Amino acid sequence: MSTATRLRAVLADRLTEDGALADDQWSSAVRAVPRELFTGAYFTAVAGSIPTRYRPVREGEPGWLEGIYSDTTLITQLDGRTRPEDVTEGTVPGSPTSSSTLPSLVLRMWHQLGAEAGHRVLEIGTGTGYSTALGAHRFGDADLSSIEYDPVVGGAAAAALEAAGFAPRLIIGDGLRGDPEGRPYDRLIATCAVRYLPLPWLHQVRPGGRILVTLSGWSHANALALVEVTGPGRATGRFLPGCTSFMIARPHDQPPRPALALLPGEERPSRIDPAKLGDWTGGWVAQLAAPAAERMGAGAEQILWDVSTGSQARTAPDTNGGWRVTQRGPVRLWDRVERAVRLWQEAGEPHQEAFGITVSAAGQRVWLGTEDGPGWDLPI
Ligand SMILES: C[S@@+](CC[C@H](N)C(=O)[O-])C[C@H]1O[C@@H](n2cnc3c(N)ncnc32)[C@H](O)[C@@H]1O
Repeated sequence: MSTATRLRAVLADRLTEDGALADDQWSSAVRAVPRELFTGAYFTAVAGSIPTRYRPVREGEPGWLEGIYSDTTLITQLDGRTRPEDVTEGTVPGSPTSSSTLPSLVLRMWHQLGAEAGHRVLEIGTGTGYSTALGAHRFGDADLSSIEYDPVVGGAAAAALEAAGFAPRLIIGDGLRGDPEGRPYDRLIATCAVRYLPLPWLHQVRPGGRILVTLSGWSHANALALVEVTGPGRATGRFLPGCTSFMIARPHDQPPRPALALLPGEERPSRIDPAKLGDWTGGWVAQLAAPAAERMGAGAEQILWDVSTGSQARTAPDTNGGWRVTQRGPVRLWDRVERAVRLWQEAGEPHQEAFGITVSAAGQRVWLGTEDGPGWDLPI
């Protein structure tokens, strides 16, 4: 037995023990698909580096194969261009733009999607092609299509899928526009995050079909939603348990911004503890309330900056106890965040599972509790 085959079997056993593999068919997929074919060389983050720097782990070097069969996300591209092969010496800074998602998450999502043999499935974000290969192994590749934005990434995935013996339909393009041929689908799974549900998806997935996607934003808070399409352009669903995050779809990423300059503004006491924004769901609620803002800082010292309007809010501990907030610009960012966080606190600070989303001609609204509960419009 080769080392890779043995490591694959160990990973499959571990994922079974952890409950990530819903059944034997997923276990055989993990045992069969050689992840190393899809990732090749990858980056690892240098511990403690700020901003984060990345070290390439080259094919065949000690630990390369063990890294591939650990249950971790392997970054394969930085800043939309740099591949591990491009780094000949030392480490590099950058923002991850493509990766092979950790196997347990890929498998959990395939399971949550509830696809069955005979369903037409569209995947957005082929990446390395590893998740596509797992799906193709389970459902066959005749009804599976996958769209990748980056032609270099998509080309490598196509070669790897072919080498592994799979032949799903692969498309290079903007997956937020859906299948360019406009084919109908029963299921859509996205392995990149979006700020709102792209309308083409809501027309290409047939009524009764499902979309599994992570909603994210410019404050980098994430929530995984499973929605059912209820009619052309209409959908409803709920957010799922756990803490799932993905890199944001390239067309939904925030525009480049100048270096942060903190400016004076109006000051008042804060009615919430700013550290609540460090909570997984608290930070997401804040993002719902101020979707055009980027969030920086930590603990009691939070900074919100909406570049499009120049609005800023920043918090700090008050020397007399509590916290103070300074706000400037036409959008009072902290007022909005404060209201939303208080609503969430009054509901007992539930996890995202307590929230749902409805998409209609009126827009896209995330709500707390029930459809007629408090809600926030997504920035379409
Ligand atoms: C987390 S990676 C995908 C992981 C992949 N499914 C795997 O397991 O290897 C996200 C991918 O989404 C791609 N992407 C970003 N925006 C996209 C878009 N609008 N349409 C299609 N793909 C997109 C990125 O280029 C990146 O390769």
